[in-house]
Amino acid sequence: MSIASLFQDAFGVEPAGTATVPGRVNLIGEHTDYNGGNVLPAAIERQVHVGFAPDAGDQFIIKSTRFDAVVQRPVGDPKRDDWTDYAVGALNKARALGWLEDGARLLIESDIPDGAGVSSSAALITAILRAVAAAIGEAPDPVEIAKQARSVENDYIGMPCGIMDQMAVGLADKGKALALDTVSLDFDVIDIPSDWAFVVLHSGIRRELSDGRYKERFEECEAARQSLRADHLCRLNAAQDAAIKTLPAEQQRRVRHVVSDHKRAIEAAIAMRNTDFDTFGDLMNDSHASYAEMFEASHPGIDALVATATRLGARGARLTGGGFGGCIVALVEADKADAWTKAVLAEHPKAWRV
Ligand code: GLA
Repeated sequence: MSIASLFQDAFGVEPAGTATVPGRVNLIGEHTDYNGGNVLPAAIERQVHVGFAPDAGDQFIIKSTRFDAVVQRPVGDPKRDDWTDYAVGALNKARALGWLEDGARLLIESDIPDGAGVSSSAALITAILRAVAAAIGEAPDPVEIAKQARSVENDYIGMPCGIMDQMAVGLADKGKALALDTVSLDFDVIDIPSDWAFVVLHSGIRRELSDGRYKERFEECEAARQSLRADHLCRLNAAQDAAIKTLPAEQQRRVRHVVSDHKRAIEAAIAMRNTDFDTFGDLMNDSHASYAEMFEASHPGIDALVATATRLGARGARLTGGGFGGCIVALVEADKADAWTKAVLAEHPKAWRV
């Protein structure tokens, strides 16, 4: 059923605006986006659909097809630590932008898993902003929407993320990767070679970005940046680079990860343009090792899944997203992807293909 029909069923009126936005998988470049580095995400097939209508009252009336209950939250309501926060934060933002006067009705249908590192929240916030804009006949620049969506996460949710996810879900299309410079926001859309498959497997280990460990890494990077007097950790000059060794050992490791993953994101974009499968795979493997050992953001269960992935024939595999659980992404030859996936999942019964 279309999101418009689902909305009509739920609320008895037609939606004034609808939007559909995909989740994303990050192929390489982790925790580089708030450190002035490059990233290389791609859209996944799973999507969120949103139907929206303005409502004359002073309530946001929110329903997800995942749950029976309709949640009502007052306009302007502060965060209360449940899933509707993303909707309320986005609708509050729409009001601040002058796109919405009073309350709203919202229907959400999504098959993007949450807590998986595939940007369910960025997709939801982006879809809501787009649906509200559509209702007033506007289709704002996707980069502008991405900045507003990020500010919902940073300022309302309190998650100090960079802009990768919001740019990826807003700009990446099926079969393409987005080579993004997170400082200039210049980007290049690259065709993923048709004989490559990026298979996304959920480890079965859930993680919450709001659980504090993402923020802890953000703060470690920020402390290092200040000590090095750098604008961006991923873009150190020679003197700043030489000064890394004066930092506390833990911060040195964090910096080494983001500096090297930024370089790998640039090299990976080149490898993809050159359809250089082997180089791309090597970069993914190096990225995982750095994420696990230097950034200490992996998990034994994830490392085991990555090891199986490469042992059974993936050219490269790594933990993707904010870390500490969620999904891995593996580069496999497209015609072997299904058989490879079956073999990996047979050894990891808690994992599943996204
Ligand atoms: C989360 C954040 C992004 C990015 C990644 C790690 O997805 O939302 O901004 O920092 O983690 O690369």
